Amino acid sequence: MNTRKLGRTGFEVSEIGYGAWGIGGGQWQGGTDEESLRSLRRAIELGLNFIDTALAYGEGHSEQLVGRVVRDAGKRIYVATKVPPKNQRWPAQKGVGIEEVFPYDYVIECTNKSLKHLGMETVDLQQLHVWNPEWIDHEEWRRALEHLKKSGKARAVGVSINDHDPDSALELVKTGLVDTVQVIYNIFDQSPERNLFPLTQKMNVGVIARVPLDEGALTGTITENTQFDKEDFRNYYFRGDHKKQVVRRVNALKKDLGNVDGALPEIALRFCLSNPAVSTVIPGMRRIRNAEANIAAAEKGALDEKTMSVLRRHAWEKNFYGV
Ligand SMILES: NC(=O)c1ccc[n+]([C@@H]2O[C@H](COP(=O)([O-])OP(=O)(O)OC[C@H]3O[C@@H](n4cnc5c(N)ncnc54)[C@H](OP(=O)(O)O)[C@@H]3O)[C@@H](O)[C@H]2O)c1
Repeated sequence: MNTRKLGRTGFEVSEIGYGAWGIGGGQWQGGTDEESLRSLRRAIELGLNFIDTALAYGEGHSEQLVGRVVRDAGKRIYVATKVPPKNQRWPAQKGVGIEEVFPYDYVIECTNKSLKHLGMETVDLQQLHVWNPEWIDHEEWRRALEHLKKSGKARAVGVSINDHDPDSALELVKTGLVDTVQVIYNIFDQSPERNLFPLTQKMNVGVIARVPLDEGALTGTITENTQFDKEDFRNYYFRGDHKKQVVRRVNALKKDLGNVDGALPEIALRFCLSNPAVSTVIPGMRRIRNAEANIAAAEKGALDEKTMSVLRRHAWEKNFYGV
């Protein structure tokens, strides 16, 4: 698999990384640890070397599975994790101070917990799991991230940007204090292209493109009758008439693509990789067949300009995470 530079970190990361939210279980039903481990190992065998997890994913379960696989991998695998907001509110709320969300001691304490779950002394990348631009001038996050690097607990630091709000991290990227940003980027949400990507390229900040399949909407497998377990986060995401909207949008997209070669998930991933600002794309893939298909997709390279111009017409401003 091809690799790209993760900004200024010096890490050469695989174009497809592993989104490890789903394997934590809890908010993602319908998987088993055995299947997840097989899928992750197969992805690594095929050249994947970057994994994105978080302390919040299955309350440490995702980190524990990732740690097991990475320790046995026998090759360099880059691991990114995240500090959950102390107030447990995703996304960050306007007017809520950093002392309630990422106090200094709490950031260090969470990192220690993550390292324990992972069975590691250093994590490659530690990220704040939400970001509020009102915190920009506060010392709290600056000191905490600096401490993580100086103490050797994290090699690099970054932020995961609030859903569908890439511009909320522009000032942060300008500070030069974060090595990476993680952002929603897919055929439906193309908004990071406007301001964030030109800036990350200028500042040499790595970009981790998350939710490339729009939580499954861009796999083409959601129908009006798709049911999710009540505990499953997607039961909320695809609530009300959301499935109907998705079906309409996906049908229009497929019609416009006509006989463009490749299945929809493949085109969705190649869309992300066609932008040079993107360092790695991190689909969730709990099943071997998805890991194999997604890695094969990356190997086909960037999409041609004609296909890209079709996809540009299908940008869709929505926020299914919001209330
Ligand atoms: N705030 C944040 O920082 C934040 C928020 C969301 C996500 N993330 C990160 O981004 C990662 C990716 O997002 P996500 O996992 O939520 O959503 P996603 O990658 O957009 O979609 C995942 C869904 O697509 C399915 N899938 C994957 N490849 C497929 C293929 N080739 N064909 C058909 N279906 C396929 C998966 O199947 P399975 O169900 O079989 O796995 C899963 O149901 C997360 O795992 C996490 O690491 C971060």
